[in-house]
Amino acid sequence: MAISKALADELERRRAVALAGGGEKKAEARHAEARMTARERLEALFSPGTFQEFGLHARHNTRHFGMESREIPGDGVITGTGFVDGRPVAAFSQDFTVSGGSLGEIHAKKICHTLDHAGKAGVPIIGFNDSGGARIQEGVGALSAYGQVFYRNVQLSGVVPQISVIAGPCAGGAAYSPALTDFTIMTREHAQMFICGPEVIRAVTGQATSMDEIGSAEVQASVAGNIHFIAEDDAHAVALVHRLLSFLPSNNMMDPPHRIEPELAIADDPVLDDLVPEDPKAPFDCRKVIERLADEGDFLEVMAEFAANIVIGFGRIGGIVVGFVANQPMVKAGALDIDASDKAARFVRFCNIFNIPLVTLVDVPGFLPGVHEERRGIIRHGAKMLFSYASSTVPKITVIMRKAYGGAYIAMCSQDMGADRVLAWPSAEIAVMGAEGAVNILYRKELSEAEDKRAKAKELAEEYRAEFASPYLSAGMLFVSDVIQPRQTRSAIALALRGLMSKRETRPPKKHGNIPL
Ligand code: HXC
Repeated sequence: MAISKALADELERRRAVALAGGGEKKAEARHAEARMTARERLEALFSPGTFQEFGLHARHNTRHFGMESREIPGDGVITGTGFVDGRPVAAFSQDFTVSGGSLGEIHAKKICHTLDHAGKAGVPIIGFNDSGGARIQEGVGALSAYGQVFYRNVQLSGVVPQISVIAGPCAGGAAYSPALTDFTIMTREHAQMFICGPEVIRAVTGQATSMDEIGSAEVQASVAGNIHFIAEDDAHAVALVHRLLSFLPSNNMMDPPHRIEPELAIADDPVLDDLVPEDPKAPFDCRKVIERLADEGDFLEVMAEFAANIVIGFGRIGGIVVGFVANQPMVKAGALDIDASDKAARFVRFCNIFNIPLVTLVDVPGFLPGVHEERRGIIRHGAKMLFSYASSTVPKITVIMRKAYGGAYIAMCSQDMGADRVLAWPSAEIAVMGAEGAVNILYRKELSEAEDKRAKAKELAEEYRAEFASPYLSAGMLFVSDVIQPRQTRSAIALALRGLMSKRETRPPKKHGNIPL
């Protein structure tokens, strides 16, 4: 029996209403601001012709404030699956042109269905957030609906990569769904993220503030550390999603997309010999080292604006996807502080979950001394570094370039934290503390009696450095696997990684460890 014209026309009529979203005028207003509509974001995300929508005909169930008869196409969110670089991916995109993208029960049901699909199929989930938050007219039902989204974000955490894009307002509790996901990308203009807006803050605390001061992408990236990337616009946000996905496996049971060639022949790179100044106090940009180590210099830095004293991000070495963690001597001398510890520890855990080997580049003078740090809990935060490295079972390779002092030496994945290979450069200094500090304590008396205190301190520090901080001392005690020339680093890491691809390390079963939070 053929479908009658009337039935076919009715389907097309319904489709047209749903596809129009909030209408042409609102779409044009977005275009005038150089923004995409919710549907355009998904079109940009997925390869052409691969998007399959779930719930186009969804009907809202908002029953109060005269909303029953109102059309809310798709209930304000577009959900479905498609392909990115040939791999299946699930996504939702909130449509601000439809009731402000506010989240009602059916809207949330669509998102939950997409999240459930991602979990069952083992595919990454991308969420474009652009919403006024809980639909006020649905009251507590809308709050519960948010709770159901959060619950699923947590169930999926560690199972499939979850990426959030903040492409508009993200108000109140709504910000907690992105916060529960692995990576958050926020557009520089037109996006805000906050729990209590300026008016609520003023009413409750009397403090005057502005949205720029609390909710802008700039602040979320550099001060709050709530987001991982700033995108210049929607198209850039989608490009960042593509770039991130290019390093990530579809789920925790799969390997990331390595690009391994059968032959492994990596030549020495003499440029590395000159990148790091021998003077342990002279700063250098650790990103320059990472770019020499990564295949084709391709490095995707994560959280570049936050805690810049540590650098994290993805690249490949010899085709194998790795997560880099590196001290940044240009900022706070590369010392570890609270924010740097939080940033690195979460990244290490992400890499471990998704089978991404870790390459740690060390030049660290220690944990940052300071009243502020002690009082805010550097002990608890620094411990996250120890916890995350020690609990990670992926291949772990550590390169000690210069200073590796004290607790920070251990926190940067020393052999005791389960590093599979620790490579040291001849310039490495591995010790309880820096030479100058150590001689001040060890030789207090001699220094106080010395005629030229400065010259004596220098002489003693040199002695200490040569005798107690030498990489050969650590190599002699087998804390360092090998001392190598900087130029040999890329090939040494690539070879070691290749040999570690079959690494399996089992731990006693437990619900989960109790990481200090
Ligand atoms: C219902 C909403 C809405 C909401 C916006 N709209 N937010 N409808 N529930 N939460 C509707 C508006 O009524 C309007 O409908 C349309 O969306 C566009 O909104 P405008 O205000 O005209 O847009 P704009 O000027 O750009 O302002 C955007 C905004 C503002 C800053 C997001 O709308 C706003 O402050 N909304 C409320 C934000 C909020 O406080 N949400 C609750 C957060 S608490 P029409 O029909 O005129 O087009 C929360 C709890 C989550 O979310 C808890 C989880 C545990």
